[in-house]
Amino acid sequence: MFQTAPISAASQSEVTEQMAERLKTALTTHLQQVYAPDQRKSLRGFSATETAELLGVSGQFLRKGHSEGTLPEPAVNKGGRRSYSGDEIWAMRQSLEAGSRTKGKYLPGRREDDKLQVIQLMNFKGGSAKSTATIHLCHYLALNGYRVLAIDLDPQGSLTGFCGLQTELEFDGPTIYDALRYEAPLPLSDVIVDTYFPGLDLAPARLILSEFETETAVNAGRGAAFFERLSDALAPVEGDYDVVIIDSPPALGFLTLTGLFAATSVLVPMTPSMLDLASTQQFIEMTSAYLGVIEDTGVRMDHDFFSFLITRDDPSDIPSQQIVSLMRALFQDRIIPSTALRSTAIADASMLKMSIYEVARSDMTRSTYDRARTSMDAVGADIANLVQKAWGR
Ligand SMILES: Nc1ncnc2c1ncn2[C@@H]1O[C@H](COP(=O)(O)OP(=O)(O)OP(=O)(O)O)[C@@H](O)[C@H]1O
Ligand SMILES: [Mg+2]
Repeated sequence: MFQTAPISAASQSEVTEQMAERLKTALTTHLQQVYAPDQRKSLRGFSATETAELLGVSGQFLRKGHSEGTLPEPAVNKGGRRSYSGDEIWAMRQSLEAGSRTKGKYLPGRREDDKLQVIQLMNFKGGSAKSTATIHLCHYLALNGYRVLAIDLDPQGSLTGFCGLQTELEFDGPTIYDALRYEAPLPLSDVIVDTYFPGLDLAPARLILSEFETETAVNAGRGAAFFERLSDALAPVEGDYDVVIIDSPPALGFLTLTGLFAATSVLVPMTPSMLDLASTQQFIEMTSAYLGVIEDTGVRMDHDFFSFLITRDDPSDIPSQQIVSLMRALFQDRIIPSTALRSTAIADASMLKMSIYEVARSDMTRSTYDRARTSMDAVGADIANLVQKAWGR
């Protein structure tokens, strides 16, 4: 049972300590209800229709493939419907790609000489849907055959939670902090964990990551520049991935700048409201100043794209649509063409630390699910196009 008596304590630090304690108990209880204690998060099965769509083949092609034994025989659920696991979809991509005449049709990732794409999502405005956009992008790309590494650069660890690691409960392994810290850093490969989502690995975060801000201030001027720490850490594992997606904290501190330096592209998620517009303006102005400081050290940063992503978009809300139009007029192709629609399906899924891709269509009102999924797919496809463009395709 939760404590509900009024909090009274001698000092403000004790008051806040008790507040933190209560919240922790409530969170732990919530998480234990969502995930049975010994149960790890797992990915749902995908219907034959959805699998065919993901692979870009017809249902008939799939049926033929498994009757001829060239594709795996999927499980059949209680209703007699075929269902493919994420691993099976991944394995099918590999075998289809091996037999395909069009290179990259089923595995659209890097080819020889293509450089690793590192996309950072950043905006110092809290709640601009950075983490939600990040996890949807990671899941979209992984489902579409890219090898993805998610890096959680936010001490709040939202992305880590979305990836099924509960820092509040059982997870106590190394985190990205251990790869970035100044004293005896670990190789990034010791920090990366694979997730239950095929194609997606994670460098997790927890609260201690905020120490990087203080340690960087203390270490200023000693040894390699702080902003090189993430890109240096990434170098040894870069061959394992096609795309790296970085979620950042709602601040323009050393962590965000470290990500920005490692990034080959930047997405600025933004909710179309007047307050967010003003805040985003300040954010871009500050970013420009910091980039200038980094460039003054003689380093050049070339981002393949630096674009805005409109999030929590509500086409029926006229004032917000005026802001969307203004942004499009000001920045044209620096606005991702598709927007992430505001959707109760996405909000509901995120309560369970899930993306829309983890929810089965049959678990929600179909039209609500379809609208959210179509919107997230469109955003994912736009960004995948930019990635392909960066590779010259
Ligand atoms: N497309 C959407 N439709 C509905 N709700 C959304 C959508 N995208 C995000 N949200 C909700 O908005 C809130 C903020 O999202 P999120 O945590 O992703 O923002 P953030 O920018 O990462 O926040 P922070 O700055 O704290 O890191 C969450 O409650 C999330 O569920
Ligand atoms: Mg976040």
